[in-house]
Amino acid sequence: MLADEMRACTRCVELASTRTQVVVGSGPTGARLVIVGEAPGAREDETGVPFVGRSGQLLDRLLEEAGTSRDVVAVINTVKCRPPGNRVPSKVETANCRPWTTRQLGEMTPALVVPLGLSATTWFLGRTTLGAVRGRVHEVDGQRVLPTFHPAAALRGGPNGEAMTRLREDLALAVRLVS
Ligand code: URA
Repeated sequence: MLADEMRACTRCVELASTRTQVVVGSGPTGARLVIVGEAPGAREDETGVPFVGRSGQLLDRLLEEAGTSRDVVAVINTVKCRPPGNRVPSKVETANCRPWTTRQLGEMTPALVVPLGLSATTWFLGRTTLGAVRGRVHEVDGQRVLPTFHPAAALRGGPNGEAMTRLREDLALAVRLVS
């Protein structure tokens, strides 16, 4: 099984030796909507579930506001192991993990993928800025992709900040598009 193969991965020597566990992803295999973050944080590394910390709580709330729930949405990260100290994953680490994410998406065949933040967006669209691409559907190799802000950016900007407003709008659009 793909998940078992991922759990045994040691391609990144540092991440494999410092992780508590590989955070494969959550949600049903047949989910129409797949949300993609950057890499697990401390809580995710502890629990093995993506987006369970503060960002995850915001994500859950905004999905509920949009009329859906985490139970029907799949959530994965471009990098499956926590970088020590929550540093940004290196290019090599992201490249090492890329085939896993590609295989996950190949198995899930979602109607829409929502990358959260610039790092996950770049994974799909290549070098860009979030401002240039967010809030619109892009087609990449036959996959529909709707980039938006990372919940951590929305939290940093406060409850009335631009990132929060856009993240809320974009998730609502994503849920409408798959309903
Ligand atoms: N941020 C991410 O990008 N992914 C997680 O799983 C948690 C926080």
